[in-house]
Amino acid sequence: MPTKNTSIHGEWSSRLAFILAAAGSAVGLGNIWKFPYMAGDNGGGAFVLIYLICIVLLGLPIMMAEVMLGRRGRQSPINTMKTLCEQENTSHAWRLLGWGGVVAGVLILSYYSVIAGWSLSYVLESSSGTFKSITETQAGKLFADLIASPLTLIFWHTLFMVMTIFVVARGVSNGLETAVKYLMPSLAVLILVLIGYSLSQGSFMLGVEFMFTPDFSKINEQVLLDAMGQAFFSLSLGMGAIMIYGSYLSQHASIARTSFAVAFADTSIAILAGLAIFPIVFAYQLEAGQGPGLIFNTLPLAFGQMPGGVFFGTLFFVLLVFAAWTSSISLIEPAVAWLVERRGLTRTKASVVCGVFTWLVGLGTVFSFNIWQSYTLFGKTVFDMLDFLTSNIMLPLGGLFIAIFVGWSMRESSVKDEIAIQNPTLYSLWRVLVRYVTPVAVFIIFLHVIGLI
Ligand code: PHE
Repeated sequence: MPTKNTSIHGEWSSRLAFILAAAGSAVGLGNIWKFPYMAGDNGGGAFVLIYLICIVLLGLPIMMAEVMLGRRGRQSPINTMKTLCEQENTSHAWRLLGWGGVVAGVLILSYYSVIAGWSLSYVLESSSGTFKSITETQAGKLFADLIASPLTLIFWHTLFMVMTIFVVARGVSNGLETAVKYLMPSLAVLILVLIGYSLSQGSFMLGVEFMFTPDFSKINEQVLLDAMGQAFFSLSLGMGAIMIYGSYLSQHASIARTSFAVAFADTSIAILAGLAIFPIVFAYQLEAGQGPGLIFNTLPLAFGQMPGGVFFGTLFFVLLVFAAWTSSISLIEPAVAWLVERRGLTRTKASVVCGVFTWLVGLGTVFSFNIWQSYTLFGKTVFDMLDFLTSNIMLPLGGLFIAIFVGWSMRESSVKDEIAIQNPTLYSLWRVLVRYVTPVAVFIIFLHVIGLI
């Protein structure tokens, strides 16, 4: 029996700290910015239903598997996989899983930071009263002008990257823990305020109907792949973020219960965000399927009308920035931890190196909204490409391999020892999901998309 590994980067002070940090990673732009527009683009109810199924059948079991791998290896994803391969006597090729995660994290952060930059700029707009009695056309123009200006986007993108590097450089519990404790609950409250507005002013029932009446004829490859990708993206799965957070988790915490809490919080916030946004979309007869600009074109209308709108609007975008911040930290953490372990860099140096590199890659996304708008491949801009490649391909593939590694490659005794699910029925259920259901489902969706079935 191999001895337990320990982490050189520190440990969470408590189980709650892990839940908060993992929820901080999971809850982000994915819930509030991306989920609504993905649902809007994919016709609403059908997408939401498949998304929820993916969360329960794929997301939750893989999250438990990923946390477990992290806690067992206790290093950056690359070295965790290396150590586990040695301890489990399996092929070293599994290390690629860690590498894939590091690359995916950098690619995601490169565009994530640009979108978080939009949110930063909306903090300024909101606090200076720009949204007061704003019309649909004005709101549309405000957003269009923002993304048309490369320099403005670069400014906000830079600011957000600096914020991210700053926290990552300070390390696990100093930086990460304090940030999430107060901000996550405040964000939930603010979304409830918005729902209150949608209830009183928006077309609430139209919004509810759009989100929860699945039109099964709308389910096609695109919806399946998007919903699965969004489930992985939103839960931060398949790229090592949850694995590395798991590596800081104390040996006594229950992986099943913590994972459930995180998935529940994440899904609730996405659904609530949808419930806040769609009633406004329909009340103003806006286009639900307008893509990434959706919340930036709709929310200013709500804040422009509601009493105290300047205050609530500013607070909302501040909290959105914080939600993005706690996610961005986890996107870069695998790469930073690896540089510290492997190259012996200090945390600060490693954070700066990763940050500068990611910032440079992010310029591709900045330009894809303006000067490179017409450069497309298969109809996709650089941003669309990065988003598709990471959310829809790399993360599900990462999840698939995690499931195969845990389900088939590791010794069952090690898995059982680490996951420590007390209830035998629950354990068997999880094991079946990880061994059969998850890999087969992801594989079938992939085959379906390439057109093989
Ligand atoms: N889950 C985050 C969000 O919803 C994004 C993310 C993806 C973070 C993958 C870490 C890893 O915004």
